[in-house]
Amino acid sequence: MSGDITGSDAWSNLKAHHEAIGEKKLRDLFTEDPDRGRTFTMDAGDLHIDYSKHIIDSETVSLLVELARAADVEGRRDAMFAGEHINTSEDRAVLHTALRLPADATLEVDGQNVVADVHEVLTRMGEFTDRLRSGEWVGATGSRISTVVNIGIGGSDLGPVMVYKALRHYADAGIDARFVSNVDPADLVAALVGLDPASTLFIIASKTFSTLETLTNATAARRWLVDALGEDSVAKHFVAVSTNAERVSEFGIDTANMFGFWDWVGGRYSVDSAIGLSVMAVIGKEAFGEFLDGFHRIDEHFRTTPLEQNAPALLGLLGLWYSSFFGSETRAVLPYSNDLSRFPAYLQQLTMESNGKSVKADGTPVTTSTGEIFWGEPGTNGQHAFYQLLHQGTRLIPADFIGFAEPTDDLPTRDGTGSMHDLLMSNYFAQTKVLAFGKTADEIAAEGTAPDVVPHKVMPGNRPSTSILAPKLTPSVVGQLIALYEHQVFVEGVVWGVDSFDQWGVELGKTQALELTPVLTDEAAPEKQGDSSTDALVRWYRDQRGR
Ligand code: F6P
Repeated sequence: MSGDITGSDAWSNLKAHHEAIGEKKLRDLFTEDPDRGRTFTMDAGDLHIDYSKHIIDSETVSLLVELARAADVEGRRDAMFAGEHINTSEDRAVLHTALRLPADATLEVDGQNVVADVHEVLTRMGEFTDRLRSGEWVGATGSRISTVVNIGIGGSDLGPVMVYKALRHYADAGIDARFVSNVDPADLVAALVGLDPASTLFIIASKTFSTLETLTNATAARRWLVDALGEDSVAKHFVAVSTNAERVSEFGIDTANMFGFWDWVGGRYSVDSAIGLSVMAVIGKEAFGEFLDGFHRIDEHFRTTPLEQNAPALLGLLGLWYSSFFGSETRAVLPYSNDLSRFPAYLQQLTMESNGKSVKADGTPVTTSTGEIFWGEPGTNGQHAFYQLLHQGTRLIPADFIGFAEPTDDLPTRDGTGSMHDLLMSNYFAQTKVLAFGKTADEIAAEGTAPDVVPHKVMPGNRPSTSILAPKLTPSVVGQLIALYEHQVFVEGVVWGVDSFDQWGVELGKTQALELTPVLTDEAAPEKQGDSSTDALVRWYRDQRGR
């Protein structure tokens, strides 16, 4: 759409509707429509999603869908899938969906069938990881590789580490993975503890192959290897994943051992590209194929399902409903699965690097808040930490609860008769119920609570949540969950009118860090930095370091 969405009729209609429904309580909404727990649900792939515990009614859904149509979400979606350059500030296509198209699909972008390119790389990754996993690929001394160390940061780290942890049960070839991202040397040092260089393979994962942290850690890792096994060992212990063959080769990695991807894959959308090589090494190409298939199932759902029943579209619109109309700042993501412990951190980059923008794609300032702040921890740990604020605090924090029918592990309960997984899931259901319906002062007083304590015990309820359930945490389901959020980000970004696929806001900090390094270390007294705070802090740091 041209013009500002906040000036559209669809926006004004939602604003007026918000004034009416914003006053309603979830208790009332369930009384008015006792069946809403069945009607406000949807299925996408293996995901069963209940969104009845949101401050909405069927009119809200219609108005949100109207808003999405006014913003041309469907048109922009089709443009994305077709490979149009919807990343306008970088003039790039946005085609992470092509990474999970089946081999017999075709998608021509700028005269090139990108699906063939994707599957050529996948085949090479499969051949390479087969050799690693079978023991055919050996290190410089003839030892089997037992640990791959992925060195990367941001999208070149968060996806692989999250998926590796989520799918630990699928590790079936005796290969373990470790991950190093931070330029804090503590990260690399800790990751190398107990590793034998002879059986360690480093995967240097960097889209640009110019990222300070990654190249610094890769150089330090190379030194660690060469000190133990000599210069000639590098070829057998270092491979690269990048879009930049020239820089890979300058670094000293043979491009025969490089796995490529393309500028139309954003870093935070790249775990399903060659960036997932460490995951494939651990779980194998078949399970990795199932992972990709999971994404594809949700892509197809998103591409073909009418917005009224389109899971990523509706969940994205609900995020926007709270963010732009209720003034909510954050969304909690609460996986009731310890294996998904890194999912919230993964989503932070996906969502916040994508939609944390204050100008629209056309360069004009946004006229509504953008970019939900994502955060979270697995249940039930969070219940004993920050849920107090969710339940009784002054802020409205919509929450996504993610849970599974089948456990990845189970143990008996204390009396030996029950399942700990059932205990976990009873917490999941209890929390969404209490958040929604709370407990009134009358109910608390009726239990004999002293009057002066009653106000402290009142549970206001009316705290919205989405319940996302899946049969089991499989490779496919992990792919489905990621795609579910990728497309939410897209929908929100289109309505807000921002370019969800650039990240200019991270650049200045990088260049200033490079400029400041000599200021911290040079023997000569440092030049003034132009502000008294930075000057004084640098002085303090240099004093501590004896400079
Ligand atoms: O600093 C932001 C960023 O550019 C992310 O978007 C990206 O995922 C990360 O750095 C790492 O970049 P690269 O894969 O090029 O090393």
